[in-house]
Amino acid sequence: MAQYRICHSPRLSGEVSVSTAKNAVLPIIAAALLTQEEVIIHQTPRLTDVAHMLGILRSCGAEAETEGTDARVRALAVDSPADHGLLRTMRASVLVLGPLAARNGACSLTMPGGCAIGQRPIDLHLKGLQKLGAKVEQEGGTVTVSGFLKGANVYLDFPSVGATENLVMAATLAKGVTRIENAAKEPEITDLCHFLTLMGARIAGAGTANIIVEGVDHLHGAEYTPIPDRIEAGTLACAAALTEGNVLLERARTDHMRALLFKLSESGVIVQEDSRGLRLRGKARHPMEARTLSYPGFPTDMQAPLMVVATQTHGLSVFLETIFENRYMHVVELNRMGAKIRVEGQLALIQGGHTLTGAHVSATDLRAAAALMLAGLAAQGETILSDAAGHLMRGYEGLEEKLKALGAETEKVEDTERE
Ligand code: UD1
Repeated sequence: MAQYRICHSPRLSGEVSVSTAKNAVLPIIAAALLTQEEVIIHQTPRLTDVAHMLGILRSCGAEAETEGTDARVRALAVDSPADHGLLRTMRASVLVLGPLAARNGACSLTMPGGCAIGQRPIDLHLKGLQKLGAKVEQEGGTVTVSGFLKGANVYLDFPSVGATENLVMAATLAKGVTRIENAAKEPEITDLCHFLTLMGARIAGAGTANIIVEGVDHLHGAEYTPIPDRIEAGTLACAAALTEGNVLLERARTDHMRALLFKLSESGVIVQEDSRGLRLRGKARHPMEARTLSYPGFPTDMQAPLMVVATQTHGLSVFLETIFENRYMHVVELNRMGAKIRVEGQLALIQGGHTLTGAHVSATDLRAAAALMLAGLAAQGETILSDAAGHLMRGYEGLEEKLKALGAETEKVEDTERE
């Protein structure tokens, strides 16, 4: 397995373009199951999660291919996904449940596994589908949803991103009106709703906590370019803030990044928006407080990268992780590099101002992998980062290449010890 060798890389500078958002593309690919007509998604990022989602659609019987950066899906006749291994590779595989239940009146799915960052149950998805009239059965790791769907009022106990997406998709073809209360408001949900509307769906309130969907008889094909990745842009912004850089992030949607940009700006980074994107200059110097929340609060996916920035400020930063129960796994590795971070339950106390030094560290999940790569840029000497390549290929299109284009000294090398 490849590992990364990362050298101290002060003052990143230059321009890079932000890729399309993985978390927008995945539900949009799943939504292509709602129509027999062709769907074309432009500027899809080259990520294994995207390839796996297209594979899942093929295992439902759809044609699903990439042509250059376009993904083309045609779901003439579809059934439950047959490739159980593929379903287990990622949590987002559960997003085919709503579309298939709506289109076929039935869907059987291997439950997506738990994952390193937390248990990640799907009870809210299933309760919501039950409210729409589906019968839900679970046996031996398989969940089966059956019955034709009827509009209903659904209240989500927690504004889950995936449950909101699944229920909106299911409701587009349900008979009557569905109201989803306490819906998640993430920009990727608004983007999915824009796409569904292009397909002929009737949706009001996207981006608010109350989404209203009026079911239609059928949806048609559409072409769409999903939004840029706010988490990738945020990770690159943290790299700039950490290295006292001067970086322009083309295509960055600053309106989707307010919570992070406030943190960076309070900490001393100069944040400028212009028509080309987002420019960051200078260094984060002041400690910060960050509590992860649903959008528009501070995103859990940015917690690990921002924590690396906090290690290099002067003073005590306080982070509170409220979304996932096990999302501090990067802390042990950062401490190995000389950071002084103490975790007490959901709380992490980061005593800034300690020089990071290169070490051999390993990544447990996607955002931890990105955070450790950033830590390597700030650390004195050489950092060897293992177990990161697979995670980064899942969710960041060319992160290492983009950092290199900004002047980072990093290379991918084979891990000969493990062969
Ligand atoms: C999505 C994002 C992920 C991000 C997360 C939170 C995608 C593909 N992934 O994941 O990058 O970190 O939102 O912003 O878009 N929960 C339940 N029951 C459920 C569903 C969720 O208890 O049925 C809990 C989860 O365990 C977690 C919290 O709700 O603690 C948030 O999960 P959710 O918003 O559903 O995240 P995902 O859609 O899985």
